[in-house]
Amino acid sequence: MLSIKNLTAKYGKYTSIKDVNIEVNEGEIVVLLGANGAGKSTTFKTISGLLKPAAGEIFFEDEQIGGKTPDKIVQLGIVQCAEDRKLFPQMSVQQNLMMGAYVHRRKKNQIKQSLEEVNELFPILYDKRDDPAGSLSGGQQQMLAIGRALMSKPKLMLLDEPSIGLAPLIVEQMFKSIQHINQEGTTILLAEQNANAALSIADKGYVYENGKIVVNGTSDELFSNEEVRKAYIGA
Ligand SMILES: Nc1ncnc2c1ncn2[C@@H]1O[C@H](COP(=O)(O)OP(=O)(O)OP(=O)(O)O)[C@@H](O)[C@H]1O
Ligand SMILES: [Mg+2]
Repeated sequence: MLSIKNLTAKYGKYTSIKDVNIEVNEGEIVVLLGANGAGKSTTFKTISGLLKPAAGEIFFEDEQIGGKTPDKIVQLGIVQCAEDRKLFPQMSVQQNLMMGAYVHRRKKNQIKQSLEEVNELFPILYDKRDDPAGSLSGGQQQMLAIGRALMSKPKLMLLDEPSIGLAPLIVEQMFKSIQHINQEGTTILLAEQNANAALSIADKGYVYENGKIVVNGTSDELFSNEEVRKAYIGA
């Protein structure tokens, strides 16, 4: 579904990621692991059109999408949930969700159905539908960011560190929700510091170091890889 070939991306003269190769098949959950600054978010920004590739190609369903504009990429079915959530704090929870449906703004029935699905997945968003997004807790804001992304009915969802800053119990719920979204038919590419939880739900993963992928394999392979365990899983 998504095929990244020898992707290099730069900020000015600084090479942030180099020769990255990633394959995501339809229906999978794929996780990107790596320390702070390793290049995970840069990879996401390049896929979602916020950053143009310096070299290499990104194929989505056999179409080369590297360098296309962010709105074109959303229309093709890829949506990104950024690290910092990018909500509209003064707007209500429901208004934030509706922003996610912008690409489908003429399909009223579909929007209504998507909204019901999101409310079912995260009932708290329905309870707080008229509250300003800025009044939600961190975990609730993360649910809203994911809910808003779902409103665009993506084929592929890019989730950048969805568990960051969340309490352990909420992290567990978050990963269950991600698994549920995947089971309902959305393919997921996930960046996570929480390697243990991420690998438990993922089919496979890629480990970044200084902008390059140094190890990749199925979740089982990564779990049993001594160096990966030491660096990212512990014990
Ligand atoms: N806007 C930017 N301008 C210049 N350099 C940047 C910019 N964003 C990221 N970088 C650099 O690119 C490299 C990769 O950063 P990136 O944000 O992709 O890492 P990451 O793996 O997402 O890290 P984290 O886990 O901390 O989110 C880092 O060295 C970072 O300093
Ligand atoms: Mg990041």
